[in-house]
Amino acid sequence: MTKHIKHGHGGHGHHGRSQGHGPTAHGHEGGDLDWDVMGPSLEHEAELGLQQYREAARWVAGLPAVREVRRVLDVGSGPGVITCLLAEEFPAAEIIAVDGTPVLLERVRARAERLDLGDRVRTLYAELPADLGKLAEADLIWAANSLHHMGDQRGVLAGFAGLLRPGGAVALVEGGLPTRQLPRDIGIGRPGLEARIDAAAADWFADMRATLPDARQETEDWNALFGEVGLKPQGTRSFLLDLPGPLSGLARDHVVENFARQREVLADRLTAEDLAVIDRLLDPADPAGLHRRDDVFVLSARTVQVAGRL
Ligand SMILES: C[S@@+](CC[C@H](N)C(=O)[O-])C[C@H]1O[C@@H](n2cnc3c(N)ncnc32)[C@H](O)[C@@H]1O
Repeated sequence: MTKHIKHGHGGHGHHGRSQGHGPTAHGHEGGDLDWDVMGPSLEHEAELGLQQYREAARWVAGLPAVREVRRVLDVGSGPGVITCLLAEEFPAAEIIAVDGTPVLLERVRARAERLDLGDRVRTLYAELPADLGKLAEADLIWAANSLHHMGDQRGVLAGFAGLLRPGGAVALVEGGLPTRQLPRDIGIGRPGLEARIDAAAADWFADMRATLPDARQETEDWNALFGEVGLKPQGTRSFLLDLPGPLSGLARDHVVENFARQREVLADRLTAEDLAVIDRLLDPADPAGLHRRDDVFVLSARTVQVAGRL
């Protein structure tokens, strides 16, 4: 995934937000990225993970705490791949895609129209937590890979708690495992490249979080945090994305995008030797490169935490 850095913005609001996203779109990484241009890559990433998210949505729908779902807020919806999936999985509900990036909300609308879901999918521009007051009450608040981009995560969760209808639930997709795409030893460079990339990305993520507006350090014990904002934990489960090699064109392109983005985002945090290996991996003509090798795969896990009203 190509990384696009936003330069020269300060202060708060959409354009002042440190727009983290990271070397892999849904990983634990951050950075000063521009959501405006990330639509296609976010869409691509979510499409590859559709089955994983479908399983997650079905598990959430089947929890005893989740009753009749008439309205879903998909907070930090991005381009709406998961928004539309939620519309399919909750056929009696209207789904409101909430995001702080208008061009991504346009993509949500286009996708919903394409899939004939336009009558049940709405969009709402909101910058959280500042715009919490714009959000309608809901039976399910789904926030996938978005809360960690908000400085005051506790404040946002407390806002969610106040928006839940009786019997409502919050489903938070945060954490899991970093994506693995190559074997430990790839025959070039020092074994363990991806583990070193993860370490660099974790460091970068911490810097990204620290520079968000109203940044507040929070121990990522989501169930404890749920309790502190008046929500009762209802279950935690992780869902796998498991695409074994050899990869299809689409999945392979995604891996190439990921490494290209990591190369750019983490250039200052990786050694010259590792950068040289990544350059070989990205070279379409190199027989050891990602375009040509058969041992490239995608394996990742996303964790979903659910909480209901006390
Ligand atoms: C990594 S994307 C996740 C997209 C989608 N939920 C998914 O999992 O595929 C994060 C999204 O959160 C949005 N976002 C980040 N910070 C936000 C904030 N403070 N308020 C509202 N939306 C925000 C971004 O615009 C982006 O669309």
